[in-house]
Amino acid sequence: MSASLATIDRDRLSALIDRERAAYGASFPASRAAFEADGDHLLGGVPMTWMRMWPGGFPLYHATASGARVIDIDGHEFIDFCLGDTGAMAGHSPAAVQAAVSRRYGELGGATTMLPTQDAAWVAAELTRRFGAAYWSFTLTATDANRWAIRLARQLTRRPKIAVFSYCYHGSVDETFIVATEAGPRSRAGNVGAPVDPVQTTRVVEFNDIAALERELSHGDVAAVLMEPALTNIGIVLPVPGYLDAVRQVTRRHGTLLINDETHTFSAGPGGCTAAWSLQPDMVTIGKAIAGGIPAGAYGLTAELAEWILADPAADIEDTGGVGGTLAGNALSVAAMRATLGEVLTDEAFCAMIAVATRFTAGVRAVLDSRRLPWTIVQLGARAEYRFCPEPPRSGGQSEAAADTELDEYLHLYMTNRGILMTPFHNMALMCPATTEADAEAHAEVFAAAADELLG
Ligand SMILES: Cc1ncc(COP(=O)(O)O)c(C=O)c1O
Repeated sequence: MSASLATIDRDRLSALIDRERAAYGASFPASRAAFEADGDHLLGGVPMTWMRMWPGGFPLYHATASGARVIDIDGHEFIDFCLGDTGAMAGHSPAAVQAAVSRRYGELGGATTMLPTQDAAWVAAELTRRFGAAYWSFTLTATDANRWAIRLARQLTRRPKIAVFSYCYHGSVDETFIVATEAGPRSRAGNVGAPVDPVQTTRVVEFNDIAALERELSHGDVAAVLMEPALTNIGIVLPVPGYLDAVRQVTRRHGTLLINDETHTFSAGPGGCTAAWSLQPDMVTIGKAIAGGIPAGAYGLTAELAEWILADPAADIEDTGGVGGTLAGNALSVAAMRATLGEVLTDEAFCAMIAVATRFTAGVRAVLDSRRLPWTIVQLGARAEYRFCPEPPRSGGQSEAAADTELDEYLHLYMTNRGILMTPFHNMALMCPATTEADAEAHAEVFAAAADELLG
């Protein structure tokens, strides 16, 4: 009979948070001063309001970054497992991307001309090799890749709705801010300025519930299921065996297209989950990491869908019909994508990144097991995330129920105060080609110390 799981003393936790907040405030005076001085004209005091989600009352200000390291304006060096919430999965400023960007922007000149460069065809072919989709077009963000994939899906199927999974995140795409509740679908709390209630545009089900998906698609009005093959924005929720095959069968049966958003699940390997798990989506969307941190996104579609949309007389995809963007596919982004995919996030690099993530996961698991902590860690290739529940969650709803803002704050502050950056919105850690096993071990040591202090 095994010993019972450890329990968290909330008074102790709160005292530890106070101590860590004080240490944070004292350790980063230049960042604190910059934040206090910068608030006059920046909305929320930061260049992008998500940056307010770093714990400690003010964000650290980034001075320099290279590989898996960030140095703040107080001169502290951090092991960076946040990696720009995946935007820097190639590592910060890898040499090949630096060279490609300076050659394109400096030597050759011209970031954006409304003319193609020859890098684009190379990138499209490489995306086809990795993800299977036959034809590709570019965007500047993953959000836009998703928005355009949805528009194309509606146009192609002449159906009005999409389906998503409860607690998914696909960028600021209006249709996706919806959750499944016992009382039915609801707009997600805090949804800003929705053009219409997403209940009108979207059907929502829990991940890993194939019966619910079948039920929702049977209405015959869903153009596409937009999914991450594993949820990554509400902890990591892996598909149960057979689930993704069943999703493919159900979508085919109901004439619904399947869009795999690989923006985060790209961590699973060079072709994301699509290649790693031999999936057959109709479209693939991706962004964030593919250009080494330079803004770029892409969406790919099968040859059949590509032919179909190009031949659709009612679809204006060349002018103002609703896909496109002046800077999309610009020469600088495309050069950066070519360098990132060709020289940095290579097949070999993924092997090494995944090995380090496996080490990271084993280190955390050893701490959880030895302390009998009722938490879990889930790995998806080069990414891993711990969650405050004893078993890996099976759906977004289950994972949301395991959220614990106090534990999040404690762990984030504890890590930051000891030179380790985790993703601020959750306990996600990502490995880039420059992350080492020693970095993973350093995390495990600090994590063990945080757990021991918590358990007293
Ligand atoms: C799965 C997924 N898709 C799309 C996006 C949107 O990316 P971006 O904000 O770079 O447009 C995100 C952002 O976190 C994401 O996690």
